[in-house]
Amino acid sequence: MTQQIRVLGLGTMGGRAAAGAVAAGYDVLGYDPSPAARDAAAAAGVRVSDDAAAVVVDADLVLVSVPRPEHVRALATEVLVKAPAGAVVVDLSTIDPATARTAAGHLAEHGVTYVDAPVLGRPAGCGSWTLVCGGPAESIDAVRPHLTATVAARVVRVGDTGAGSVVKIANNLMFGAINAVTAEAITLCRRNGVDGRVFVDTVAESGAATVSNLFKEIAPKMVTGDDDPAFALELLAKDNRLALDLAETSGSPAPLARAVVDVNELGLEHGLGPRDSGALVRAYAEAGGAR
Ligand SMILES: NC(=O)c1ccc[n+]([C@@H]2O[C@H](COP(=O)([O-])OP(=O)(O)OC[C@H]3O[C@@H](n4cnc5c(N)ncnc54)[C@H](O)[C@@H]3O)[C@@H](O)[C@H]2O)c1
Repeated sequence: MTQQIRVLGLGTMGGRAAAGAVAAGYDVLGYDPSPAARDAAAAAGVRVSDDAAAVVVDADLVLVSVPRPEHVRALATEVLVKAPAGAVVVDLSTIDPATARTAAGHLAEHGVTYVDAPVLGRPAGCGSWTLVCGGPAESIDAVRPHLTATVAARVVRVGDTGAGSVVKIANNLMFGAINAVTAEAITLCRRNGVDGRVFVDTVAESGAATVSNLFKEIAPKMVTGDDDPAFALELLAKDNRLALDLAETSGSPAPLARAVVDVNELGLEHGLGPRDSGALVRAYAEAGGAR
């Protein structure tokens, strides 16, 4: 039985995952190129290394949580191939399905199984995340007890390799749309003599069918100007770009994805990429009238 978990990427999500594994009693060794991320993980009881290959060399189960597809491609070719045959890589990163299939194919040549398992959930919800998995059912079944003991309430196989990424990208398209429309609605109120906080409090506490958990979380932060990053705008912009690219390559209509990508881009142009997704409201505040 797996008693040790290895973690590549100790940022907002990977750091929580590693700490969750420590709290569940696993031996956890993690790597991140950022010394600050390593220090934060070490403070949570994670053993850390500045050598990625040394982290995976004796692994049974490797959790990966890195920002972008190019990071996964680099790890697959340079680092994860050093894991022993029989190891399972569970990739929590949000990436495109083609990258997942490429990584899986490459690692299969080395006897290592790759599962794309992006997270439905927020950092603070680690332990109750839903992982949407694409890959071989027997491998997912084998790692499920360790994932539910550490980071997830549900580990759902949604299809073959890449399917988890499709579900996650579709979900985050909804995130991007709700994030953008919330910034837009608050700005509309402000420009028409209604305080943003009045709008948010009134709608959030009403029985209006528009009120989502995400609205309740981000709208109050937007009106108070709290943009400490739980989920950085630059990561949301990456995810929504992945949705638009996937729509284009699969011939799926995407007028909303295109609009959301444009709005996120406006936020990035305002230098808000590292801030929380809700910081988008600041770009709206500086923007001109209806386009
Ligand atoms: N934050 C959220 O709410 C959230 C929710 C669901 C999914 N995600 C996804 O999870 C992934 C991680 O997000 P995050 O918010 O933790 O980002 P983050 O930027 O806080 O953390 C990513 C970490 O990966 C590290 N890293 C970069 N290259 C690496 C490499 N080659 N090897 C090991 N580590 C490397 C970075 O130094 C950083 O510490 C992203 O794909 C994101 O889209 C985030």
